[in-house]
Amino acid sequence: MDSIISVPLPDNSYSIYVTDNGLSTIGEKAQQFNLGKKILVISNPEIFAYYGETTVKSLEDAGFTVNYHLIPAGENYKTLESISHIYDTTLKYRLERNSTMIALGGGVVGDMTGFASATWLRGINFIQIPTSLLAMVDASIGGKTGVNHPQGKNLIGAFYQPKFVLIDSSVLKTLPEREFKAGMAEVIKYGVIWDKTLFERLENENNLHSLNNLSTDLLNEILTRSCQAKADVVSQDEKEAGLRAILNYGHTIGHVIESLTYYQTFVHGEAVAIGMVAAGKIALKANLCSEEEVIRQEKLIAKAGLPTQIPHYLDLDDIIANLQTDKKVKAGKVRFILPQTIGQVIISDQISTDLLREVFKR
Ligand code: GLY
Repeated sequence: MDSIISVPLPDNSYSIYVTDNGLSTIGEKAQQFNLGKKILVISNPEIFAYYGETTVKSLEDAGFTVNYHLIPAGENYKTLESISHIYDTTLKYRLERNSTMIALGGGVVGDMTGFASATWLRGINFIQIPTSLLAMVDASIGGKTGVNHPQGKNLIGAFYQPKFVLIDSSVLKTLPEREFKAGMAEVIKYGVIWDKTLFERLENENNLHSLNNLSTDLLNEILTRSCQAKADVVSQDEKEAGLRAILNYGHTIGHVIESLTYYQTFVHGEAVAIGMVAAGKIALKANLCSEEEVIRQEKLIAKAGLPTQIPHYLDLDDIIANLQTDKKVKAGKVRFILPQTIGQVIISDQISTDLLREVFKR
C-alpha cells in the first residue's frame, strides 16, 4: 500500500512518497511542483540501464525536457572532480534557476546530486529517487549532501532539502543481496533508537536477510516506518544541533571498523551492525540497558544476516586510538549513542577508556 510521509521543516518542508510501482509516475508527481522545464537526471551506468528509460519517458510525457549525466558507481567517485563534471553537463544543457536535478541511484548519487543542486546558481530544484535500501531509509531524507575529501568522508557538503523523495520499492529487486542486508542494518537502527513497534515487527519475521522472502506489504511497512523515524528526527533537529546525532547509532564503532579495515572488508551497513552490537555491550557495562534487550538486539542483527562481532584481528589499542579521531569526538570526549531500552537511546560522552577496554578485551 502506498504511503506519504511528511518532513515538516521551518523552510522547505517536503514529502516522501513510498510506493511499490512509482517510477513511471515521476513525471506526474514532478508536474505538481512549480518546476521549470529542464531536468537533469543524475545516475550511475548500471542503475540508469535498469531504470533510466522509465524515468526519462515519464518525465518527457509530462512535458519536461530531460537530459542525463552518469557517474561511475562507487564511493571512489564521490569527489569534487565528479561534481565539476556535473557542472560541465549543467552548463552544456543550460540549466537555469528553476531547473531541476533528479538523483536516480544510491547514497553516492544522492549526496552528489544534492550538493551539485545546492551549489549550481546558488541552488536549483532537487528530487531524490533512491534505489538502494540504505538510500531509501537514510541518505535520501534529511538534506545531508556532499562529497568526500581525500582526508575524510563527507567533509565537504551542505544541508539542502529535496522538493520530494520518491521511493519505489520494486526497484530493490535489482539490488545485490549484500546491499539489501546492509540497508537492513539502518532499518534495525530505527527500531532501536525510535520505533519499538518496528523492532518487534522485524523480530517476528524470519526471512529478513533476503528481499525475495519479504512480502510487498511488509517491505512497504518497513520503508514507511523507517522513513517516518528519520523524518521525525530531522524535523526536530534539521542541522544536527542535538537530537539528530542519534541517527549515528552504531556509527561510532562502525566508522572505526571501516577505517581500520581500510573500507575493504565491510560495507557501511555491516560495520554499523557491528557498531550497534558494540554499543549495546557498552550500554550494558555502563548499567544503562538490560542484558535482555542487548541480547534481543544482537539476535535480530544476526537474523538479518549481518555481522555482530568486531574482527578478532583488530587490535584493542588501535580501536581505542582510532575512536579518539572519529568525527564524533567533541571537546576531546568520544560521544556514544547508547541504547536504554528498545526504541530509546541516549547520547553520552561519559564512557571511560577503562570501560571500553573492559568491554572489548580479548
Ligand atoms: N545519516 C545520518 C543523518 O542523516 O543525520
